[in-house]
Parts: sequence; C-alpha cells; structure tokens
Amino acid sequence: MSPHVLERIRQLGRVHHVALVVADLERSLGFWRDMLGLPVELVLPIETDRVTIAFLPVGESKVELVMPTDDTTGVARFLAAKGEGFHHVCFEVANLSETLMRLEMDGIELIDSVPRKGAEGPVAFLHPRSCHGVLVELIEAAGGPSWRSLGYPKA
Ligand code: CO
Repeated sequence: MSPHVLERIRQLGRVHHVALVVADLERSLGFWRDMLGLPVELVLPIETDRVTIAFLPVGESKVELVMPTDDTTGVARFLAAKGEGFHHVCFEVANLSETLMRLEMDGIELIDSVPRKGAEGPVAFLHPRSCHGVLVELIEAAGGPSWRSLGYPKA
C-alpha cells in the first residue's frame, strides 16, 4: 500500500453512527431500547426532511433510527421498496471540505459536494454507486472548520 493511500485512510475517524430505517419509531425502540438496552439520547422530528430520528449511543458510536413521516422522501421510498433495515454508515472526518475535494478528485461520486448542516454537525453523502452499494455519510468532527462556516453555535 502506498503512503498516499495510507494518508487517506488516516482521514477517517470512528464510525459516528449506523442509520437504520424503521416504519414505526416507537415499535422499533421496543427492540433497540427495551430488548438491547441502548439508552435513547435524542428523539428529533426534522420537519424539513420529513423524518423523525432517534440516536442511541453504543460505545464510541450510535445507532440512528430514521422514520419517514410522509411518503414523499427518498427514505420513505426506500422503506416502501426494501422494508426496514440498514440505510447508511457515517464516518467521522477531521476536515469535511478537504475530504470531499479529495474524494471527488479521485472520481468518487458525491451526493453533497459541499458540507451541509446535519442534526449533529456538518455532513455529506457519497453515492452508493461509488461505494459498492453502500450509502456512506461523512460527518466533520466537532470543532472542525465547517462548524463555524455553517454557523453552528460554538461548543
Ligand atoms: Co446519518
């Protein structure tokens, strides 16, 4: 493996979260919270995305449950077509703009070419076509450069 490649691998931090699409958030908490015992950190309706999400911390990562609140969104179509289950994995990076630029230069198809404001920090998605069928999300670690440019309150 070339040092060039190693350098890039070092840009990825922890798995920030694994997102799962659910049909009914409360029913799914009957498994994730009540059977597996994960604490519920946050339940948050995101009106603009027409979803309600829940974050359940586990180790240095989280499980994110995503429930569509109407049937017009991509997540809703995903649920209708494939049923409940794995939706995307999110990795933490130190500098999201820089990572996106580098990936684009290497021919990776980006869904978001610049960081956008996510519930937990600046995020961007990579297209599953470029990721062997997996929807990959990247989130910038707290305090990174995009936090300020996107107007997050100072931690
Ligand atoms: Co996510």
